[in-house]
Amino acid sequence: MLANFVALVLLSALAVARRTCKVSAIGGGEDDGPAINAAFERCSKNAKVVLDKYYVVDTLLLTKDLDDVEVELSGTVQYTPDIAKWSPQSLFLTYQNATTFWFLSGNNIHLYGGGTIDGNGQVWWDTFNNSHNAGTAGGSSTTFARPIPLTVGNASNVVVENIRQIGSPFWNNFVYQSTNVTYKQISIRSQSYSSSPTANSDGWDIYRSSHVTIQDSVVINDDDCVSFKPNSTDIIVANMFCNGSHGVSVGSLGQYAGEMDIVANVSVTNITMLNAQNGARIKVFGGNPSPVSTAGGGTGFVRNITFKDFHMVNVDNPILIDQCYSTPADVCAQFPSNLSISDVHYINVTGTSSGKEGAVVVDLECSDTCQDITAEDTHLSSPSGNATFVCKNIASTTQLDFNCTLPE
Ligand SMILES: *[C@@H]1O[C@H](CO)[C@@H](O)[C@H](O)[C@H]1NC(C)=O
Ligand SMILES: *[C@@H]1O[C@H](CO)[C@@H](O)[C@H](O)[C@H]1NC(C)=O
Ligand SMILES: *[C@@H]1O[C@H](CO)[C@@H](O)[C@H](O)[C@H]1NC(C)=O
Ligand SMILES: *[C@@H]1O[C@H](CO)[C@@H](O)[C@H](O)[C@H]1NC(C)=O
Ligand SMILES: *[C@@H]1O[C@H](CO)[C@@H](O)[C@H](O)[C@H]1NC(C)=O
Ligand SMILES: *[C@@H]1O[C@H](CO)[C@@H](O)[C@H](O)[C@H]1NC(C)=O
Ligand SMILES: *[C@@H]1O[C@H](CO)[C@@H](O)[C@H](O)[C@H]1NC(C)=O
Ligand SMILES: *[C@@H]1O[C@H](CO)[C@@H](O)[C@H](O)[C@H]1NC(C)=O
Ligand SMILES: *[C@@H]1O[C@H](CO)[C@@H](O)[C@H](O)[C@H]1NC(C)=O
Ligand SMILES: *[C@@H]1O[C@H](CO)[C@@H](O)[C@H](O)[C@H]1NC(C)=O
Ligand SMILES: *[C@@H]1O[C@H](CO)[C@@H](O)[C@H](O)[C@H]1NC(C)=O
Ligand SMILES: *[C@@H]1O[C@H](CO)[C@@H](O)[C@H](O)[C@H]1NC(C)=O
Repeated sequence: MLANFVALVLLSALAVARRTCKVSAIGGGEDDGPAINAAFERCSKNAKVVLDKYYVVDTLLLTKDLDDVEVELSGTVQYTPDIAKWSPQSLFLTYQNATTFWFLSGNNIHLYGGGTIDGNGQVWWDTFNNSHNAGTAGGSSTTFARPIPLTVGNASNVVVENIRQIGSPFWNNFVYQSTNVTYKQISIRSQSYSSSPTANSDGWDIYRSSHVTIQDSVVINDDDCVSFKPNSTDIIVANMFCNGSHGVSVGSLGQYAGEMDIVANVSVTNITMLNAQNGARIKVFGGNPSPVSTAGGGTGFVRNITFKDFHMVNVDNPILIDQCYSTPADVCAQFPSNLSISDVHYINVTGTSSGKEGAVVVDLECSDTCQDITAEDTHLSSPSGNATFVCKNIASTTQLDFNCTLPE
């Protein structure tokens, strides 16, 4: 009894004794990056880092080896639009040449607080619009790499909640080589205020990660709302409001010959999809005869994917499978995709298309045969006339609740 009491008191004392590092801001446009990095070094274990000021960040945030760390972001982290400095110093993450401003890494991390991460994207978008620099996607160029504002990388057991993200130069969030990561109540806005469009403004990209949940969030952008890149498994996406996006997308996959890409066990439910290019999308490259192809020919599988309770308004392709993605039709006909698609379910997908694809509201086009594709409670209409549903190389259409027509 007494021992229990003593243990309890000790535990409470430990809880109270959680080390806290509050970061002050220098002001006057000075770089707060080094102070933020130092705080994460001092408070890297059983600790709390408080970011409650307006921070100007001109130095890579490399916050690694964290263990049981709370991060209260109630202020604003604003990255400088210093292209000459960031392009070489942002952290190169190899996949699609992505680089990042902030690599958050470790075990048991809780980032929350109602604050803002501001990527200052306008300058990057305007520059991209005018330079057409080939190093576009990131680190292939040290003169123009557009970094990702927040990467949860090499991490486990992470919760990110109640954060606002604005003006990302590239993808907003990258989940990289991580497991058990949850995002909730994230508000994302990538919106250009000039004549140049935003570019690659994905809400999330998931890569080599498992057990990832993204929920209760709003995304206003002009690229994928959420994208499952190679080796995304056991993923839940729920209760999302996406406006202007390219949809919730599996892929693209199978781009590289000799590489195996897997996306499996994905559940996407309760999605409002407005003014989008796609709703529920799967994009996979076709095959390729070259063993060193970087334009299709990869292997792997897409399996056990459920898209449920989608409401579409003004969406070009409400439901889309493209297994000849970015592959010339003749190449794809001769070399069908080596990456199989099976066990894909559409449940309660409703709403209207934009009419951009005429009356087509569903387009399921496989180059290899797709197995076990089902659809129930599909209620989609087109402003261009009676809705049509295109299917090609679907092993069995008996479990689809619409009548298929062949592509034109
Ligand atoms: C990445 O950079 C390499 C080297 O510059 C380039 O060949 C490749 O096309 C780039 N990949 C992407 C996806 O941009
Ligand atoms: C992430 O983990 C990989 C594999 O363990 C390692 O090679 C890489 O250096 C790590 N990245 C960072 C930025 O720590
Ligand atoms: C996942 O992470 C959360 C938050 O850190 C933790 O509470 C939970 O126990 C973890 N789940 C597993 C299966 O480890
Ligand atoms: C973006 O590019 C277009 C076409 O090249 C050009 O007309 C426009 O002025 C550019 N916008 C900005 C803000 O530079
Ligand atoms: C569906 O998502 C919306 C947010 O887009 C949310 O307001 C609503 O509560 C969710 N519905 C359910 C049943 O969770
Ligand atoms: C969606 O975005 C469009 C274009 O920015 C905007 O006009 C519209 O009000 C937004 N819709 C909602 C419901 O937020
Ligand atoms: C994906 O996982 C499979 C199986 O573990 C592995 O063989 C493959 O190399 C991984 N692919 C990528 C792109 O990481
Ligand atoms: C399919 O994925 C769901 C998660 O979305 C998982 O609960 C279920 O066990 C998976 N089914 C199979 C057969 O792997
Ligand atoms: C999908 O989930 C099932 C059930 O949990 C599991 O057995 C299987 O390994 C998972 N598939 C992949 C590719 O992770
Ligand atoms: C269908 O999905 C909508 C959300 O888009 C939801 O409000 C409705 O309850 C769902 N219907 C059924 C029968 O589950
Ligand atoms: C739509 O279908 C109805 C019933 O089959 C038919 O009467 C009508 O002409 C069709 N409308 C168009 C625009 O094809
Ligand atoms: C499919 O076509 C058949 C034969 O024309 C018709 O009886 C059936 O009602 C159609 N089903 C749907 C869902 O439109």
